[in-house]
Amino acid sequence: MSEQNVALWLPKRGARFEVGPAPYTPPGANEVVVRVRAVAVNFIDGIPGFLYRVVMPWLTFPAVVGSDVAGEVVEVGTGVTRLRPGDRVVGHAFGVEKSQNRAAEGAFQHYVVLMQHMVSPIPDSLSFERAAVLPLALSTAATGMFQQDHLGLAMPGADPVERSETVLVWGGSTSVGSNAIQLARNAGYRVVATASPRNFDYVRSLGAAETVDRRSPAAVDEIVDRIGDSPLAGTLAIGSGSLAPAVAIASRTTGSKRVASAQPERLVRIRPPWARRPGVRVSGIWGGTLKDNEVGPAIYTGFLPAALATGAYRAAPDATVVGHGLARVPDALRQLRGGISATKLVVTV
Ligand SMILES: NC(=O)c1ccc[n+]([C@@H]2O[C@H](COP(=O)([O-])OP(=O)(O)OC[C@H]3O[C@@H](n4cnc5c(N)ncnc54)[C@H](OP(=O)(O)O)[C@@H]3O)[C@@H](O)[C@H]2O)c1
Repeated sequence: MSEQNVALWLPKRGARFEVGPAPYTPPGANEVVVRVRAVAVNFIDGIPGFLYRVVMPWLTFPAVVGSDVAGEVVEVGTGVTRLRPGDRVVGHAFGVEKSQNRAAEGAFQHYVVLMQHMVSPIPDSLSFERAAVLPLALSTAATGMFQQDHLGLAMPGADPVERSETVLVWGGSTSVGSNAIQLARNAGYRVVATASPRNFDYVRSLGAAETVDRRSPAAVDEIVDRIGDSPLAGTLAIGSGSLAPAVAIASRTTGSKRVASAQPERLVRIRPPWARRPGVRVSGIWGGTLKDNEVGPAIYTGFLPAALATGAYRAAPDATVVGHGLARVPDALRQLRGGISATKLVVTV
């Protein structure tokens, strides 16, 4: 296949993005090429140069960044039997991962190479724009909740048994939190979540049984009260300032003393003394690690396709389409830096 590819290039750390021609890279074994129809933006895509050096020191330039892709499969590599050209899919692009570090695998281009086990077919009723909100947020939530080195919770599935334990999601209205709530519910756990009051109904619509205002001075007491006698299965701490209250709650309740933070391990290690309590184990999530263990395929091939088709899982939060064409991605990143609430910014391609 000789397709004309176009990418949003990042020429070097801290430089401006530039739209330009890119090679079409055919899929290798267990890879697929997807014609990208929509991408979502994440904070990490638009970080300044010095932060790229701290967070992704391995990244070589020129780079194509971006994690969230929805589109159509155009070519499959050897060993791929579950996907075919023409399939409508959503997938997590891993171009900036240390193990990949390859422009061909960055989301912000017309034709992207994806790992087949991190791609899910989507129902016809789900638009590419809405589907594109899922990958990085879903992967980050799933990594924190199901990997054994984080919370090690029971996996989600169809008809989950109702469990008596509670999962606490601090930051329930974030994209990561929206996925965490749904994953926990699809694994049968009761969910207590924080959000701003304007997002309480939204967070409840995803399955949270209890909602608490994260800005309330009494938030920790209120959450301990709402958790009540139901032992904690684990805590996900999402958003700046979330770790200290999450650790305090884990230390004051029965059940699991594990807290998974949506900050990478390097940042979690340098947390202040007030975010430490005896017996509470904190781990930092890197939302790409699930591709290398049982969690990635269990979510993207085992759980998500059927859960989206039956409506057991929603592409949440709702997408806000910022514009059309790769040249609009920097606008979306600017808008993201300005702050969003219970939405994800998407560009159609
Ligand atoms: N480690 C990884 O691999 C990884 C991957 C993706 C994201 N992340 C991190 O996860 C966090 C969430 O990212 P996202 O993309 O899901 O966020 P997002 O969708 O942009 O989150 C927006 C929401 O954040 C809430 N919020 C703002 N400040 C908060 C705070 N201090 N504590 C709790 N909630 C807060 C607001 O909710 P209300 O309006 O309801 O208050 C708002 O709705 C970020 O820190 C991001 O850097 C980490």
